[in-house]
Amino acid sequence: MARVLLLVPTASYRAPDFVRAAKALRVELIVGSEEPPPIPNEHAIHVPLADAAATAKVIDELDRARGIDAVVAVDDQGIVAAAVVGERLGFPHNAPDAVAATRDKLALRSRLAASEVPQPAFGTTVDAVGYPCVVKPAGLAASRGVIRANTPAEYHDAVARIRGFWDGELIVEQYVDGSEVAVEALLRDGKLTVLAIFDKPDALVGPYFEETIYVTPSRLAHATQDAIAHVVARAARAVGLTEGPIHAEVRVDLDATDGNELHVIEVAARTIGGLCARTLQFGAGISLEEVVLRHALAMDLDNLHAPRTASGVMMLPIPRAGTLTAVHHRDRALALPGVVGLEFTIPIGGSVTPLPEGDRYLGFLFARAETPAAVEAALRAGAAALDIVVA
Ligand SMILES: Nc1ncnc2c1ncn2[C@@H]1O[C@H](COP(=O)(O)OP(=O)(O)O)[C@@H](O)[C@H]1O
Ligand SMILES: [Mg+2]
Repeated sequence: MARVLLLVPTASYRAPDFVRAAKALRVELIVGSEEPPPIPNEHAIHVPLADAAATAKVIDELDRARGIDAVVAVDDQGIVAAAVVGERLGFPHNAPDAVAATRDKLALRSRLAASEVPQPAFGTTVDAVGYPCVVKPAGLAASRGVIRANTPAEYHDAVARIRGFWDGELIVEQYVDGSEVAVEALLRDGKLTVLAIFDKPDALVGPYFEETIYVTPSRLAHATQDAIAHVVARAARAVGLTEGPIHAEVRVDLDATDGNELHVIEVAARTIGGLCARTLQFGAGISLEEVVLRHALAMDLDNLHAPRTASGVMMLPIPRAGTLTAVHHRDRALALPGVVGLEFTIPIGGSVTPLPEGDRYLGFLFARAETPAAVEAALRAGAAALDIVVA
C-alpha cells in the first residue's frame, strides 16, 4: 500500500476530504501538521510547517524510518518543504524557489513580468502605479489585507490598516477592471491541464475583496476560456512550476480598449481554498483531492472529464465583526431546489472577523443544477433564506 505524507496546517478545512480520497484510492495517509492536528489521525506526526528546512528534516527521518511514496502539501504553508523533500527523494515536485515565489506577491509579479505575462503594473509604493491602486501584504492570502485605494487619503488609510496586523513587505498594484475567474489546473511534466474554470458572478470592486460565489463551468465564450487557459499555462511556466495543482485568478475585461483583456492576478501552487473543492467532480465521481493524490503517486489520470451538471459554492459573507450567536432556517435553505449542502466552519459562539483583517471563512453553501445560471440563483436564494446572527 502506497504511503503519502500530507502536510496540513492546523487551521485547514481540508483534512477530512483528503482522508476520504486516500481511502478511495487505498492509500495510507500520514498527517503532518503543527499542534493541534486538524483531525485525529492515528498516524499523525508533528512538523514545524513555518520552518521549511526543519519540516524537510522531519520528513527525511520519517522516510528513513518507514518509507514514504509522496509528500502532498494541502495549503501554501507546506509547499516549500514538499518541494525540497520531493527533489531529494525523487517524487514529482516543483523547484523549491518556484513554489517560494508563489508565496511572495512581489517575487511572483517579478517572475511574471520577466516573461511578459499580462498582469497589473506593480511596485512597492503607489508612485509606481497611480490611482486607483490595490495595496496588499506581500506574504498573506485569502484576500487578507487586500485593499483598494482611489485617492492618496485612502492609500494612507489602507497602509495604516494593514500595518495593524502585518509588518512585512507591501505590494501596490494598479487596479485592473473586469470580471474575475478562478482556474483549477494540474501540471504534469510541465504540461498544464485545466480542470475547471469558475466564474465569480459578484462584482469584486473593493475596497475589500471578500470571495462570494464561484460557479463552474464558466459562462464565458469558449475562445475566452481558451485564452484564459493559455495565459495560466504561460504564468505557471514563467514562475517555474512544473508539477501538481495550480489555483490561479484572472481578471477578464471584455471591454478593454487597449486589447489587454486578461490580467493574471494570482498563481498558487495548490488547490482552491476553503471547502470550495467540494464543488468539483471528475470522470466517475473522482474528487479534486483524489486527483492530487493520483498525481503525487504518478497514478493514471485519464478520463477527468467534467460532469454534465453545473455546480457552485458561496462563501457566506461575514456581516460584521462579533460573535456568531445563531443560524436560523438552515432547513429552509437546504430544501430549496439546487441547494445541495451547507457547512459552517465557525461554531456557534465563535468570533467572526470580516476582511480586511479576517482570516476564517464563516461557512459554505453548495449548489448543483442543470445550468450555471440555475446554480447561481440557487446560491442566492439559499443565502437569502438563511438568517445568520452576529452579535
Ligand atoms: N491589481 C488588482 N486589480 C483589481 N483587483 C485586484 C487586484 N489585485 C487583487 N485584486 C482583487 O483582490 C483579490 C485578492 O487578491 P490576491 O492578489 O488574489 O490576494 P490573495 O492572495 O489574498 O488571494 C483578487 O481575487 C481580486 O479580486
Ligand atoms: Mg487570490
